[in-house]
Amino acid sequence: MMPFFKSIKKNKQDQAIAAADRITRLQASNLPKHIAIITDGNGRWAKKRGLPRTAGHAAGMKKVREIIRAADELGIQVLTYYSFSTENWKRPQDEVDYLMKLPIEFLKTDLNELIKRNVKVQMLGEKSKTPSETQKALEEFEEKTKHNSGLILNFAINYGSRSEMISAMKQMINDVQQGHIKPDDVTEDLMDSYLFTKDIPDPDLVIRTSGEIRISNFLLWQIAYSELCFTDTLWPDFDAEAFFQAIEDFQHRTRRYGAVK
Ligand code: IPE
Ligand code: IPE
Ligand code: MG
Repeated sequence: MMPFFKSIKKNKQDQAIAAADRITRLQASNLPKHIAIITDGNGRWAKKRGLPRTAGHAAGMKKVREIIRAADELGIQVLTYYSFSTENWKRPQDEVDYLMKLPIEFLKTDLNELIKRNVKVQMLGEKSKTPSETQKALEEFEEKTKHNSGLILNFAINYGSRSEMISAMKQMINDVQQGHIKPDDVTEDLMDSYLFTKDIPDPDLVIRTSGEIRISNFLLWQIAYSELCFTDTLWPDFDAEAFFQAIEDFQHRTRRYGAVK
């Protein structure tokens, strides 16, 4: 028993040293301002263990907390999680119910820590179409952290990029009809101002876990020039070390925005 236990401890120590080493290797001047994460693979993580899919979501929630802490300690300005898409309503009802209860649970366990960390929590997506208890929890997060000036933490819940753009277009057309704007006023900046992400810089880095190489209707307008990082790791197996690794990869990219470097 003992040598095995010792080796685990040593392994953990090594991991901590490796993580600290990686943080010091990250260039403080070239950190992504905004990191957006498609937290995928909870269901497969659970299936591999013979557990119900909901157990994967519970394990994923712990990683959401771990990466918030890592991002905050690193001084990242904006962290966005894709937590529930407009297409995820197609899942079995018990799974949807479980996912809709998670924010209520997270409010109980994590609101105080987020307040202490000066984190400002915001929601992207149509909150009003979530169950009323969920909506109440989401609003309480926003209300109780709205004056905080630290990390901006966005949760995309009942979020779909196409529906966000359609709603922006409808509002714009309405504003033209009301005479508030003219068609010539429509610019990229104006479009930004009609999106859930208004006032937030576009993601510099998008991470998707679980080996799927697709965007799944996430921030289509906003990621025009984001760096994309795909990893095979399932979300419940992702950790701070993997997060720092993704940032290190980002720091080796050359961003050209169509120009010549
Ligand atoms: C991501 O994990 C969480 C949500 C989409 C809510 P999945 O539940 O999609 O996990 P997989 O893709 O089935 O493994
Ligand atoms: C994307 O994952 C949405 C979230 C992580 C919330 P999905 O698991 O829903 O995406 P697809 O169905 O594999 O494209
Ligand atoms: Mg999935």
